[in-house]
Amino acid sequence: MTNAELEQIVDTSDEWVYSRTGIRERHIAAENEATSDMAAQAARKAMKDGGIEPDEIDLIVVATCTPDMAFPSTACFVQKHIGAKNAACMDLSAACSGFLYAMDVGRQFVSTGGVQTALIIGAEKMSVVMDWTDRSTCVLFGDGAGAAILQAKGAPYGILTSVLGADGTLSDLLAIPGGGSRHPLSQQVLDERMNCLKMAGREVFKHAVTNMANSALEALGRCGATIEDVSCIIPHQANARIIQAIGQRIGAPLEKFYLNVDRFGNTSAASIIMALDEAARNGRIKRGELVLMVVFGGGFTWAASLVEW
Ligand code: ACO
Repeated sequence: MTNAELEQIVDTSDEWVYSRTGIRERHIAAENEATSDMAAQAARKAMKDGGIEPDEIDLIVVATCTPDMAFPSTACFVQKHIGAKNAACMDLSAACSGFLYAMDVGRQFVSTGGVQTALIIGAEKMSVVMDWTDRSTCVLFGDGAGAAILQAKGAPYGILTSVLGADGTLSDLLAIPGGGSRHPLSQQVLDERMNCLKMAGREVFKHAVTNMANSALEALGRCGATIEDVSCIIPHQANARIIQAIGQRIGAPLEKFYLNVDRFGNTSAASIIMALDEAARNGRIKRGELVLMVVFGGGFTWAASLVEW
């Protein structure tokens, strides 16, 4: 869906959206396509790339804030779609930060030896939680999925550190307030569109910059690395202006960031892994290089991971 198509839905313009966010277009899943369907497609590609058979997978973690259903978990549906009959399955809720949280959960299981092979997925159908009458939010988000396989290998590469953080006192600033146990689905919830995403954009912007910059620097500091050692930064693809502001804070030129927000918008928990996958496939990241991933989302939650590729 291009900005021009959005102009037909709400009072907006390509100029406004692109200049404020860097977004030109986003993808919208088909009506009959649920989050687990996109997640399973991504999982199949990751398994093919990694040469992994479905029954080798011991754990599936799906990071999402748009699950197929309250339960069963989206991970259980993915298990069914891909035939990973030996896997334990769970979802992880950390909004946009979900993929890096899930990657760290997978890392902990794998590094204790409790699990040999973990399938980590970030997947979202954000289009179903958009208020398509609210131009301040519906222009920002898109649908998508990405997946990674984690295994413990003796090779000199992998996840060097992960920094995870949250501040639940600011939960009201970015939320889908209705449809859960606090405000169960009712006519009033639907009338007030409380089942849709609500956001205090300027506040989110401010906290996103501060927390992503701080967690990125903390991850580097823990490994005795500097920003100059990093070849590529994969930031949460929410808004090109947030990314520019982070660059200024951490002393990284814009060219060091991998950006695809112009083509996908903010895909929430899928954003980091979709960008990482693209960057790896198109040669932007090479074996042995340091890659810094950094993310922020509702909760508030945030995370940074430093990886040797
Ligand atoms: N098209 C045209 N005008 C718009 C639109 C739109 N899509 N949206 C808002 N406006 C108008 C507003 O109505 C307002 O008009 P008014 O002055 O007449 O009242 C004016 O633009 C300014 O609105 P602001 O909300 O103050 O605009 P701002 O410059 O702050 O930009 C934005 C809004 C892009 C949402 C910005 O605050 C932002 O990027 N925030 C970060 C939010 C984000 O990226 N969230 C993603 C989820 S969290 C995460 O993933 C990190």
